[in-house]
Amino acid sequence: MLLQCYLYPPSILPQLRTNLQSSLFLPTRCRTSHAPLLRSITVKASISTVMDADAQVALLKKGIAELYDESSGIWEALWGDHMHHGFYDPDVKVSGSLSDHRAAQIRMIEERRLSDFRGPKKWPKNVVDVGCGIGGSSRYLAKKFGAHCQGISLSPFQVQRANSLAAAEGLADKASFQVADALDQPFPDGQFDLVWSMESGEHMPDKRKFVSELARVAAPGA
Ligand SMILES: C[S@@+](CC[C@H](N)C(=O)[O-])C[C@H]1O[C@@H](n2cnc3c(N)ncnc32)[C@H](O)[C@@H]1O
Repeated sequence: MLLQCYLYPPSILPQLRTNLQSSLFLPTRCRTSHAPLLRSITVKASISTVMDADAQVALLKKGIAELYDESSGIWEALWGDHMHHGFYDPDVKVSGSLSDHRAAQIRMIEERRLSDFRGPKKWPKNVVDVGCGIGGSSRYLAKKFGAHCQGISLSPFQVQRANSLAAAEGLADKASFQVADALDQPFPDGQFDLVWSMESGEHMPDKRKFVSELARVAAPGA
């Protein structure tokens, strides 16, 4: 969402702001409290049109960190542990309630072929959660498989919240989180038998580097 902001020319920013407000799916009172954030995104988008590529990437990362620092509390209040969309069957009527949505978010995780890990011997032991939000996927995978999960996010707020939720759920020894860039991951080659990234790839300015980092940290045969 923010990546798109940086690529649009200033002439369409008013329309973009409206789209962003509605896609944030926020109640009116929250939209009002988000007005400064939306304004700052607009200003940054305008500035980015005259910057070189490295400076734009640096600004993009800063903007992503700020966006999630400022909005994660609202997302958590609305959507709970997970900051990704739900999995819904086609042609099945849904109520649209928040509890249905939260169940659909869990299904989105399960639909990532978790059933392929048949039996405890095949369960993943070391998981990296790239673009971890407030750590919902990591906590889910730590509980389901007993795996050690390490999450990274650009947002210091999310990392702090993820670590404190893990501690509150008795998972401090299983799930830990740090501020780091998915395009330059602070892990050695081949460390993880499950490489997890849920709805963060859309933010990455260099998709090739993103995928090569995911492959680099994956254990052989993972
Ligand atoms: C839509 S949220 C998804 C969060 C989480 N995966 C979930 O399903 O709840 C996108 C996440 O990607 C992270 N992100 C975006 N660009 C990143 C980067 N270059 N490095 C690390 N994390 C990044 C954001 O900080 C945020 O945590």
